[in-house]
Amino acid sequence: MRSHHAVVYAIARPVATGRLLKDGKTWLIGRIAVLKECRRKQVGKLVVENLLERAAEMGAEEVHVHAQTCATGFYEKFGFLTHGGTFLESNIEHISMVKKIRDLDSFHT
Ligand SMILES: CC(C)(COP(=O)(O)OP(=O)(O)OC[C@H]1O[C@@H](n2cnc3c(N)ncnc32)[C@H](O)[C@@H]1OP(=O)(O)O)[C@@H](O)C(=O)NCCC(=O)NCCS
Repeated sequence: MRSHHAVVYAIARPVATGRLLKDGKTWLIGRIAVLKECRRKQVGKLVVENLLERAAEMGAEEVHVHAQTCATGFYEKFGFLTHGGTFLESNIEHISMVKKIRDLDSFHT
């Protein structure tokens, strides 16, 4: 007996986002967010790596991020280091992190 199956794939759905901007002389990444159900599947990594590559192409020597303190471990994977104390942004605890752009290979070494 043969059967026919109809399957719908939502392949064009955005699941993660992030931005890179230059504020004066400072390159900043931010607004990194991955849909809850897509987290811990290396999707955020794709976003950050893409933004770091873009920053390198555009001549950035270092890139900064205001990281939520619960996400510092994520950014450390890319070689970001914390500096300074914590501060509140939108009532959420953050800390500044910076990465020298030359060591793009440092992810998962
Ligand atoms: C933080 C966030 C962007 C991570 O995205 P993600 O797609 O889950 O991350 P990935 O799966 O690409 O993780 C890459 C690596 O970072 C690790 N990682 C992910 N989130 C982490 C966290 N919060 N703390 C420590 N490590 C983390 C993963 O385990 C993985 O490591 P591994 O490859 O050695 O296993 C996502 O959890 C999110 O959108 N959170 C809510 C919004 C937010 O906090 N944004 C950051 C604001 S500064």
